[in-house]
Amino acid sequence: MTLISGPPRRSGLAVLPPQAQAQMPEVARKGEERAGLNRCRTHKYLVPEVIFGVGTVGEVGNVLRRKGGCRPFIVTDPGVIEAGWVDHAMPFLDDAGLSWELWHGVTPNPKDYEVDSGFEVFRESGCDVVMALGGGSCIDAAKAIAMLSTNPGNVLDYAGIDKVQAPLPPMVMVPSTGGTGADVSQFCVITDTANRLKATIAGRSLVPDVSITDPRLLTTMPDDLSANTALDALAHAIEAYVSKAADFLSDVHALAAIRGISEHLLSSLADPKDLVAREGIARASLQAGMAFSNALLGATHAISHQIGGALDLPHGLLNAILLPHVIRFNSETNPERYVDVSAALGLGEEFSSPRDAADAVASHISLLSDKIGIPPGLAAIGVKHADIDVFAVNALNDAYITTNPRPVSEDDVRRICVSAL
Ligand SMILES: [Fe+2]
Repeated sequence: MTLISGPPRRSGLAVLPPQAQAQMPEVARKGEERAGLNRCRTHKYLVPEVIFGVGTVGEVGNVLRRKGGCRPFIVTDPGVIEAGWVDHAMPFLDDAGLSWELWHGVTPNPKDYEVDSGFEVFRESGCDVVMALGGGSCIDAAKAIAMLSTNPGNVLDYAGIDKVQAPLPPMVMVPSTGGTGADVSQFCVITDTANRLKATIAGRSLVPDVSITDPRLLTTMPDDLSANTALDALAHAIEAYVSKAADFLSDVHALAAIRGISEHLLSSLADPKDLVAREGIARASLQAGMAFSNALLGATHAISHQIGGALDLPHGLLNAILLPHVIRFNSETNPERYVDVSAALGLGEEFSSPRDAADAVASHISLLSDKIGIPPGLAAIGVKHADIDVFAVNALNDAYITTNPRPVSEDDVRRICVSAL
């Protein structure tokens, strides 16, 4: 995997400075203009060290040691403990001679006050490395605690892009769901409970050092969590592929993720112990995470963050409901990239236009969601029409709105939410 360092970016787009452009040979510049090429764009791709495969939880002790840890701080939640994965993993830390501290005070949509509590435990513990064993909520909380260990102030002070200045302690992430992508991403999403919205903290220092995916962990997810997180991964892949910041590096992983989810979703839900299907979903989740960490996302996530923050609803479930409506909105002006998405989903038809292909993608996702038990609209999960105005205002402040392929106004968000009710 190519890892190119450089200054942080908001949109993934960069151009040569005017002086460098002026130094380009005239023939080359005119040739590029004729071909409509943008060879001046700089491409950057950030990913952690990735360890993937059945049984790889067994590597956690050695990995933490290798990263310089003596006393790991483990962030997990009661569901992961109940499923037996903490009892399974901790002996590997003992075998490596590590004295660990466990904290399990995270809930879905991790809250700012939970991060504060976790950080207090971390500060008293003398820990020197952070590990998450759990879903996206555990991983985001672990990132936030690691961030506060070297950066002053409150977690919400760092909402936005590249506000984290001091280096973080080593972070090792072990995802237990097939959809988060947080184990490889440069994002951390924390609920701002006072303002009832989700704050996105973004920056290269939030990319974990090591991601360890053991597909066996996915076999103990409850059915609704399996469905929600897989649809979240599908939303990551599709939004990354159509993003304004997509490039040849993110495209490879986005399309592979769409194909993988399409191939393995139904079989993984029909038999949760089907390790081939679970490995397929884990692989797709990883690839979708790599894609969206670099290409960013779009209006689906920008809107779902606001609804999830206000009403504490499952993130993947909201994305599953919103995604077809955002695709139909985008396809009115920017349908072209959905042609490749339709092929990756295996829709296999000859469409008369890109708009038709995009509409087919939206319809396919709605049918798929219905088949796996996703409610038909936002109203069915408690969203009220009266809430939509607040979501519309807040969604335009979300970082992911900037890379949606079609510009989005407050009225557009209202229209999308009303259609999704
Ligand atoms: Fe997501």
